[in-house]
Order: sequence, then C-alpha cells, then structure tokens
Amino acid sequence: MPTINLVTELPGPNSKALVARREAATPRGAAKLTPVAIVKAEGAAVTDADGNTLLDFAGGIGVLAVGHCPPNVVEAIQKQTADLIHLCAIVGTYPSYVEVAELMNEVTPGDFPKKTVLLNSGAEGLETAVKIARASTGRPAIIVFEGAYHGRTNLTLAMTSKYGLFKKGFGPFAPEIYRLPFPNIYRRPVGMTEEQYIDDCIARLEYAFTSQVDPSAVAAVVIETVQGEGGFIATPPKFLGRIRDLCTQHGIVYVADEVQCGFGRTGKLFAVEHYNIAPDLIVTAKSLAAGMPLAAVTGKAEIMDGPHPGGLGGTYSGNPLACVAAVEAINMIRQPEFLERANQIGARIREHLLDLQAAIPLIGDVRGLGAMMLTELVKDRDLKTPASDETLQVTTECFKRGLIAIRAGLFSNCIRFLPPLNISDEQVDEGMGVIAEAIRVVESSRRAVAQ
Ligand SMILES: Cc1ncc(COP(=O)(O)O)c(C=O)c1O
Repeated sequence: MPTINLVTELPGPNSKALVARREAATPRGAAKLTPVAIVKAEGAAVTDADGNTLLDFAGGIGVLAVGHCPPNVVEAIQKQTADLIHLCAIVGTYPSYVEVAELMNEVTPGDFPKKTVLLNSGAEGLETAVKIARASTGRPAIIVFEGAYHGRTNLTLAMTSKYGLFKKGFGPFAPEIYRLPFPNIYRRPVGMTEEQYIDDCIARLEYAFTSQVDPSAVAAVVIETVQGEGGFIATPPKFLGRIRDLCTQHGIVYVADEVQCGFGRTGKLFAVEHYNIAPDLIVTAKSLAAGMPLAAVTGKAEIMDGPHPGGLGGTYSGNPLACVAAVEAINMIRQPEFLERANQIGARIREHLLDLQAAIPLIGDVRGLGAMMLTELVKDRDLKTPASDETLQVTTECFKRGLIAIRAGLFSNCIRFLPPLNISDEQVDEGMGVIAEAIRVVESSRRAVAQ
C-alpha cells in the first residue's frame, strides 16, 4: 500500500486558506518552503488539512530521526505535562534535566570527564559554545568555514555562510569571526586531485594563522562534521584531523557542530565517530529531542566550567517536556539496530540516486554519509553550473505528487534527504520514485526549451 494518498490537488483548499492567513499574519521573511498545512503526522507520513497524506523527506529539517510522534515520546511528554510543565532550571532542578545531561556526557565521543549545558535551539547552542570557549581561553577569535551554517542569531549569522539568503540586510555582524576555505571536493579547482585540494585547504588554514589571526588569539574552531545547509559535505578526514591537531597544539577549543549531522543521521550516533577523533565541545539539537525544542553543548569538564557561575542558562533552556522527550529519543537512537537501519536507509537512497545519475544529465553529484544523502543538480556536468531554478522546479513537482523534499547548498541547487529513520523500505522506494519522476519532468522540459 502506498503511503501517499491524495484526495485533492496540492495544495488543497484548506491548505491554501490557512497558508493565506499565515501570509497575512506573519512577515514574508519567515521562511516557508511548501504551501501545505499539516494537521497530523506519524512515522514518515503527514496528513494535511484537506485529508491528503504526504511522505515527508524533510523530517522537520533533520529533527525527526525517531519519526513523527513516536508513542513512547508522546507518552513521556503527556505524563510530564501532568506533573511539571515548567520550572526554569535557573530556579530549581528536576530529574529529566539532570538525566539528559548525564546521558549526553555518557554517549558523546571523548574519554574524559564531561559536562553538558542545555539550551533551546541550535543557534543558541552554538552561541553558548562560543561563550564557553571564549571564557575558558580568554581569547576572542573564532574560525569558521565557507559553506557553514550555524544559525540565524547575530553571532551565529556572523558564523554562517551563504550571504544572500541568510545575511542580506541584517548586518553589522559580530566581530572576530574568521572564515576559511572548506574542502568541497565536488567543486575543487579543475586539474587538482582530491589529495592536492585537501592539502591546499590545510595549507590555507595554516597560512591564516599568519595572514589573518594569531593562534594565541583564537578561542575556537567551529566546524560542522558534515556540512548541512552547505550541501551535505562530509569534512575530509585529513582536514578534520589537522584541525584537531592544530587545536591541541595551540590550545584552541575544537567545537563540532552536530546540530544536523548528529543523532544517528550518518549511521553513527555522532558523525565525528566516523573520524575517530573527539571534539572538545559538541553542539547538538534537532533530533536530540524528537521535535521538542532542545539543544545541548557537551564537552570537556574543565572547558565547560570556564564561564563564571550564573553566566549560562535561560528561562526555557532544558524545559522538562523537552528533556523527557530527549531521554526517550537518545535511548532509541543509540541502539545499534537503529544506527544500522540508518545506514540501510542511506544506502537505499544512494542506490536510487546513482541509478538516476546514470540516466539523467541534470544530476551532477550524489553524496552523503549514512542516511544524510543529497544530490546536486547542474546544468552542465563539466562546468558544474548550478541548476538552481531547476532544483526548485523538482521540489515543486515532488510536492504536487505528495512528497515533501527540500533543497540545500550554497547555490540552492541540491536536494537533501532527511527522512525519519523509522521509514520503511517501501516508503523510501515510493518517495524516490516521486523524485525520479519529478527530475525526469524537469529534465525533459529543460530539453524542450533547449531545442
Ligand atoms: C549545522 C547547523 N547548526 C546550527 C543550526 C541552527 O539550529 P536552529 O535552527 O535550531 O537554531 C542548524 C539548523 O539548521 C544547523 O543545521
């Protein structure tokens, strides 16, 4: 039985009406990728306001590793709601807050004493990691990379790349942020081998310590282990290894941003586990709490204790409902069977994409780690000209057919796959069938225009 079940055209009349009200009541700047109104969801399926069932390959942008509304999470939240909705961890202590911190200290990479502080969002987690790194080192500078996405608050916007979409009109941005080249293998200079290109990026990183900022002034290097918004680019191991070494050598805090790539998405609990290195601090959010707003900064106890007592925290940070959801989610995702399944899902998506790449010139690249898969669309495979308009057409065609798929990449020319990891093989195949049809439709209209 297919999951997608359409009883109206998409968007249906009720979706249209609610989206129109949203547009009247909220500013145009608040991003909105599809014109659909969802009222219910389970696993990888969502039901809209017109009774259509759609397949969800966005998963709340990587938030729903455990799927929509898993019964144990729902039950834990319901029970907690009856006992204690809010206290404020600044005011007092409750069991789930401590339990999440202890769990995070246990499951994150690194064989050293750790501590965890809880926040509300990925951006707040990144800001807090920077505060911790600065307080513990007494240094101001932060190194980030091209293509990075770290959030939309002022400090994290300064750390984020992709100017036009995220930053235009919002400056001035926080100072002391230094952006360095990131090895995007697919877009390396013509004629360079992968090895040469990675070495060149490492050389430029080392050069920056003379040309841009002295290492003694650098508090942290902040890097996504696998770039998310930038286009699912796994940091090459040699590059990340060099960052680890340089941080150790110069007393710089290595902060891994695993907001999108963490919590099982890459087939390991944390993506950095693929590299056999441990960051000093790891920032997590998204799938940490199954859709409840929660983020965590976890790391070396002596660094975490850098800020003065009272320097960290917030009204809602580590809210009890979010914490009980996180305990359930972490204990589900950490199971070997769950992680194995993530790998199977990723392999299945990759296979579908490679088949499509063999048949359709629009598909320039297929890449990713575990179930964090993506395809990059180009107008010309040799020139790698980003097919940004065509990518939007593909996701629009997908939506019309009942598949929610979203874009990524500096040029918005990638389609990223972040389905719930309790999706079935049949649902993966069904969704990828829709992707194939949508890409074919766009490819043939592109050809018709070219002729
Ligand atoms: C890698 C990464 N870091 C940070 C963030 C910011 O998280 P939030 O939107 O919860 O503030 C995101 C969000 O997409 C992300 O993908």
